Amino acid sequence: MNNIFLVNGSTRKKGFNAQLMQKIADIFSECNVSVRELHWQDIPVFCQDNDYPPPPEVERVRRDVVSSMALFFVTPEYNGYCPGGLKNLLDWLSRSMNPANSRGESFIHNRITAVTSAAAGGGVAVRHNMEQLLGFVRTQVVNEYSCGVAIKKDDWKSGELTITDDEAAGLRRFVLSFLQAVKEREELKLNPMI
Ligand SMILES: Cc1cc2nc3c(=O)[nH]c(=O)nc-3n(C[C@H](O)[C@H](O)[C@H](O)COP(=O)(O)O)c2cc1C
Repeated sequence: MNNIFLVNGSTRKKGFNAQLMQKIADIFSECNVSVRELHWQDIPVFCQDNDYPPPPEVERVRRDVVSSMALFFVTPEYNGYCPGGLKNLLDWLSRSMNPANSRGESFIHNRITAVTSAAAGGGVAVRHNMEQLLGFVRTQVVNEYSCGVAIKKDDWKSGELTITDDEAAGLRRFVLSFLQAVKEREELKLNPMI
């Protein structure tokens, strides 16, 4: 299991979601699973005129995602939705890999995905909206144990994300269910009869 990416929807380096992403990375690490961060923050706004070939930054991100099996998103909630930059990333990834066939498989097609969030109310709205979007772009969304982390009153002042024991237990269960989906996919691929 070495082709899992963590995707921070925030462009802040030490923001609440960067801190939550570190916590998620620690849980993966405790499960002996190595993960990498997907670096997407330098990609330009989508333009259909530049789709094929895309700008080099997009080419790099598309290549990373094609090489992956699964993506775990950690995102802020902006006005009830995901940040525009993250939607922009998914627009680039949703395009067909084959320029001659616009209905062909996309760069993100069939990846296993999950979404968590550090937001005022645990990101209920953004998790719901992102899951819908990830389903729309035909990924396999894992959300049975979906959960987020609430940014508490004092966290806003300190800039440090507090994670309660209950939230930590929920995150762990969520990550384990995500890993289970990845494992099942790996087993399917190993079976030459399927
Ligand atoms: C444009 C904008 C809209 C926001 N809308 C929401 C919102 O709908 N719900 C929420 O919980 N927080 C909202 N926030 C506050 C974010 O939770 C906060 O800025 C948080 O620090 C962003 O995450 P980050 O620290 O990982 O960048 C909004 C912030 C911005 C800048």
